Amino acid sequence: MEIKHFLQFNDLSTEELNHIFARASWIKSQFKSYQQYWPLQDRTLVMIFEKASTRTRLSFEAGMHQLGGSAIYLNTRDSQLGRGEPVEDAAQVISRMSDLVMIRTFEQDIIERFAANSRVPVINGLTNEYHPCQILADIFTLIEHRGPIKGKTVAWIGDSNNVCNTWLQAAEMLDFNVHVSTPPGYEVEPERANLYGHDHFETFADPMDAAKGADLVTTDVWTSMGFEAENAERMRDFADWQVDADMMLAANKDALFMHCLPAHRGEEVAAEVIDGPQSVVWEEAENRLHVQKALMEYLLLGKI
Ligand code: CP
Ligand code: NVA
Repeated sequence: MEIKHFLQFNDLSTEELNHIFARASWIKSQFKSYQQYWPLQDRTLVMIFEKASTRTRLSFEAGMHQLGGSAIYLNTRDSQLGRGEPVEDAAQVISRMSDLVMIRTFEQDIIERFAANSRVPVINGLTNEYHPCQILADIFTLIEHRGPIKGKTVAWIGDSNNVCNTWLQAAEMLDFNVHVSTPPGYEVEPERANLYGHDHFETFADPMDAAKGADLVTTDVWTSMGFEAENAERMRDFADWQVDADMMLAANKDALFMHCLPAHRGEEVAAEVIDGPQSVVWEEAENRLHVQKALMEYLLLGKI
């Protein structure tokens, strides 16, 4: 079988994405009814982290165990990667000792170079440019609550970061719309987002306008990992881009609120929203586990 990587959202076709959502639903229901499902017995996942993580590490590690396999955690600080071993050499070695690799790193170029030298599938666990596993979980959560995402409207309020870029790619793959509102100077860069066109997103200077007509309002931290030096400036620039109760009122009546987490209450989101009745952030976080199990099953075993 040809090796398939998941380095950005559009590495999978629409049909493959829909297969993964269907499998995630089945895998979740098996798990919830305590049914053992071990299709990846004797398989090993290596997880390489160059940035901090709670959810990504937990969901991949627990997910691999639940599928019958094992997971090994490596971080830059205590592996040779942190001492300058070329990423190409690391890929050669790591992929001879494992069946699957997940990487969280800085530039997308690093994960592309790793994948080009890997004998096993590589999954993007977040780069500066993309966070495809997060959007798999977010869309799966939306589908669970509201049915197919096709034709729906997602409002993205805040930074045009890795999570935003991935929403924009997903909109092209699954035919929905994204309303984006960023402060001036932080606009979407279509090339960085690797978009084919402008058909599935619209930009709004005023975040309240972006929220109008949205089925889902979502945001993320104002300062992503790797951009900490810009924090003070960003706090000033993003001050009017908080998702608060008024913004949720501007959205559709039954709109959901999501956040990939970790969140900063009082910055990108008001406590009354993230802790309020429209928020599905805990389910969203849990669904990382179920969709990534479906993703790992697909990359290693193909369609089941
Ligand atoms: N949402 C997300 O990827 O969380 P972590 O940084 O905790 O992995
Ligand atoms: N945009 C955030 C997401 C964290 C899960 C970051 O890159 O830090």
